Amino acid sequence: MTEKRFLAALNGETVDRPPFWFMRQAGRYLPEYRATRAEAGDFLDLCYRPDLAEEVTLQPIRRFGMDAAILFADILLLPQALGQHLEFRVGEGPVLDPIRRTEDIPALDMDRLHEGLGPVYETVSRLSRSLPAETALIGFAGAPWTVATYMVEGSGSRDHPTIKQWAFSDPEGFGKLMDLLVQGTAAYLKAQIAAGAEAVQLFDTWAGALPHAWLEPLVFGPLQQIAALIHAEYPDIPVIGFPRGIGTSLAHAARIPGITGLSIDWSMDPQWVAANVQPHRVVQGNLDPRLVVVGGEPMRQATRHILDCFGHRNFVFNLGHGFVPETPPEHVAELSEMLKAV
Ligand code: CP3
Repeated sequence: MTEKRFLAALNGETVDRPPFWFMRQAGRYLPEYRATRAEAGDFLDLCYRPDLAEEVTLQPIRRFGMDAAILFADILLLPQALGQHLEFRVGEGPVLDPIRRTEDIPALDMDRLHEGLGPVYETVSRLSRSLPAETALIGFAGAPWTVATYMVEGSGSRDHPTIKQWAFSDPEGFGKLMDLLVQGTAAYLKAQIAAGAEAVQLFDTWAGALPHAWLEPLVFGPLQQIAALIHAEYPDIPVIGFPRGIGTSLAHAARIPGITGLSIDWSMDPQWVAANVQPHRVVQGNLDPRLVVVGGEPMRQATRHILDCFGHRNFVFNLGHGFVPETPPEHVAELSEMLKAV
């Protein structure tokens, strides 16, 4: 077996037990995160302080012993490094100066990009030295469509009216923003890999906002291009996609060339995923994070069902979206012990 269980699973090997990690495993549900966050001050200061970002990445590993750690950063650091103004306002989330016209799309300045993101690469390289030998290190970025929703709407948004207006009415102009993000994201992920990331995940949180016909140009195509750019330099690095909320279009996602694994959101029936996705790609998922807030038998029963459906090959256990701040750490401890005992 490949030495690290998480990488073995992504390599298609049958493993002794399914590896596990959790989206947003570092975060506000942990008191030690809240303490480090208070020391940093602003959320962005935490992201750009390699010593503190390393510390919060390690915190859940120390407590629960997941098979993989995910770099602590945020998907919106990339637009910031491309020159867009970004702040996180307390109680409001991210706020950016919106880009709404082709003329306002910045040119890709690689020196500026890597200079802005230098502290993130430093965090990765520290982690590759400090993580336990059995724990894999995951790098990540936002997928172009999801990052673009924040860049164009200027904040989080439920219906994404402005970006859909632009993308559907002016595919060519909007395509320039997507091209910038494909190139920038690939460069960002390659630098994370050079610094020590052993796999990468692309978060497409708002993929489900698109009609089926637009998934190919705005979600699947960009993912395929980024994977190809990464694999041209690093052919063996697994690339995991997380096109959240696309339902049965996951059967199409399972055929994107170059994508090793797909993270599956909690709305999906594990049996459908086992039949339609798992034969083609490694699946990762898909416990509803609310069931970890509830804990007890509902959490255990849903976990057993997921484990029964997916077995010991082509499967990584995870949530179907990130932990919420009100998650009791004791429930995460119980879930982790259950997963280590499989
Ligand atoms: O442990 C991990 O999963 C790694 C770190 C990580 C964070 N954000 C830290 C974070 C990762 C992988 C992300 C990805 C991310 N960021 C996504 C995609 C995944 C998803 O959750 O859908 C998105 C859409 C963002 C953008 C973002 N970051 C928003 C909208 C917010 C505000 C909402 C919120 O939850 O507060 C953030 C802030 C953020 N990113 C926090 C954390 C731990 C909370 C910040 C805090 O400490 O107050």
